Amino acid sequence: MSVTPDDRSASLAGADAPATTDDVAAAVADVCAAHGDRPDALIEMLHAIQARLGHVPPQAEPLIAARLNRSRAEIHGVVSFYHDFHTAPAGRRVIKLCRAEACQAVGCEDLANHLHRAHRLGSGATTPDAAVTVEDAYCLGNCALGPAALVDGELQGRVTAERLDRWIAEARIPRGEAAE
Ligand code: FES
Repeated sequence: MSVTPDDRSASLAGADAPATTDDVAAAVADVCAAHGDRPDALIEMLHAIQARLGHVPPQAEPLIAARLNRSRAEIHGVVSFYHDFHTAPAGRRVIKLCRAEACQAVGCEDLANHLHRAHRLGSGATTPDAAVTVEDAYCLGNCALGPAALVDGELQGRVTAERLDRWIAEARIPRGEAAE
């Protein structure tokens, strides 16, 4: 299951303020109760917790495990298996660069190398100022216009290093100082 743009918007809204222990406990209790504490709804629960807190904090795992009568290892296994789940707050801007075959044929690996060299952003990394998170994606359904990316949930085609630089620079402009 993938995170929808709406989920992403909701999660980004909470990205600036780290969740407190009480926030995490309340989110887990509310979400688990809303899903009837059903283990088969674990993925949906994790998405709901991420939408509320901006990520799935490690301290949520034992709380979820207790509610679902499962081991923490089982919960952690699911959280770590799916790329959509973040265990730390994502940056204000999330760039998902497609690394699948058709985009590889038109240079997505050069773009990934550029992100790494110019911005020290490998897959899953967030800039120290929490402005930008970069993630991998595997086919965004935009193969004819590759290299493709999702930028804050918006599909982009014909991505270039210059466009990546611009998206990153925009995200780093302090709030209230953006042009327009
Ligand atoms: S392979 Fe990149 S959008 Fe399909």
